[in-house]
Amino acid sequence: MLNFTIVTLFPAMFESPLNHSILKKAQEKGLISVVLVNPRDYTTDRHRITDDYPYGGGQGMVMKPEPVVAAIEDIKIRMPRAKFILLSPQGRVFNQASAAELAKEEELVLICGRYEGVDERVKDFIDDEISIGDYTISGGEPAAIVVIDAVSRLVPGVLGNAKSADDESFSNGLLEYPQYTRPEEFRGAKVPEALLSGDHERIRQWRRQMSVQQTQKRRPDLIGRVDLSPEEKELICNQRAPVYVALLHYPVYDKNRQIVTTAVTNMDIHDIARSGRTYGIKGFFVVIPVKALQRLALKIIDHWARGYGSQYNATRKEALALARVKDTLDDVLIDLEQEYGVRPRIVVTSARPGGRRTSFAQLQDMLINTTHPFLIILGTGWGLTETIISQSDYVLEALEGWTDYNHLSVRSAAAIILDRLLGR
Ligand SMILES: C[S@@+](CC[C@H](N)C(=O)[O-])C[C@H]1O[C@@H](n2cnc3c(N)ncnc32)[C@H](O)[C@@H]1O
Repeated sequence: MLNFTIVTLFPAMFESPLNHSILKKAQEKGLISVVLVNPRDYTTDRHRITDDYPYGGGQGMVMKPEPVVAAIEDIKIRMPRAKFILLSPQGRVFNQASAAELAKEEELVLICGRYEGVDERVKDFIDDEISIGDYTISGGEPAAIVVIDAVSRLVPGVLGNAKSADDESFSNGLLEYPQYTRPEEFRGAKVPEALLSGDHERIRQWRRQMSVQQTQKRRPDLIGRVDLSPEEKELICNQRAPVYVALLHYPVYDKNRQIVTTAVTNMDIHDIARSGRTYGIKGFFVVIPVKALQRLALKIIDHWARGYGSQYNATRKEALALARVKDTLDDVLIDLEQEYGVRPRIVVTSARPGGRRTSFAQLQDMLINTTHPFLIILGTGWGLTETIISQSDYVLEALEGWTDYNHLSVRSAAAIILDRLLGR
């Protein structure tokens, strides 16, 4: 039995939501109970005032601390073990895990703010502050109803079939699989064959796969926290665009903004290849037109991918096997066009601020559910030239810390960019 006590200036707002469907039945079965407490009943003045003007001026009114705290203290005497929660847009954002946590309590007190919210000092008398999302509503009452509903569903016995809460969106960290009911065909759209097969194992597998796919597509922020099998991880990798990285040694600027060719470095080749392998890129191009430097790059790559190094360290072999040496960026584009039949979408990176930038989140979205290849170009020296940047489809936002020092090595930048775009 879970008892909710709601502290609200508008108790009538709860009448309808509590008197229908699942919440009504849960109360009738004695699995939950809801008590409404009005802070106005705890005022001591003749006009029963519960709000006042904000100190410092500004819009709206603020809920006075005395009636709310008097209500809290009175409830505490009757229910010393109760957990006191203030509904507030500044609280931790409510989700299925918080609902599950609250469903273990026996007594929950939900305090609803109104106007500009409650006086800050009320927060000394509560245990937790919960927001139902990053938007502002006019009062805590709709938020309290959301919390009561989500928590009550997890109280044993409230849902007819105890299993139905297990499959729902968020219960295992994933969004739910698509649901269908009769008819088998609606306006030309058929129910997926797996669901009609009657084969329980096949249905279970289809649902799990759809859940993983839906979550990856719609809520990539959730998928990273879920335990996935190696096959499911592979499914996620295969569902996104093939990504390639090119490390450009020409044309790039030097510190005087002259266009130069930079030298090949052993560490860049190793580290970008290793980051690339970790995050599942399909290939890594080292672009260098100077023949002597090409030979040096090839010597490093061959040593680890095919020569003695490949026997000495197999994981290094896997990473360096991604690397290819090319004369020019055009050669890279021709290679990819031959392989995919389309010109890859070109993404450039630049540490220089300004201009129109694509955010990491936007690019991450673009990479999902497409087979179109993407090429991320990294510059060396003092960065990619304007000509290269003007040929690109997207200029990725700069990596920035909270200082004005911005001199990441290209291999560090590569690791951060790949993690943001392709990491869990
Ligand atoms: C208009 S809001 C006050 C907003 C407050 N001035 C601020 O900017 O943080 C009035 C009341 O609605 C409730 N409320 C508004 N948005 C909420 C949210 N996202 N989650 C939970 N409660 C919310 C809170 O109880 C709040 O005290």
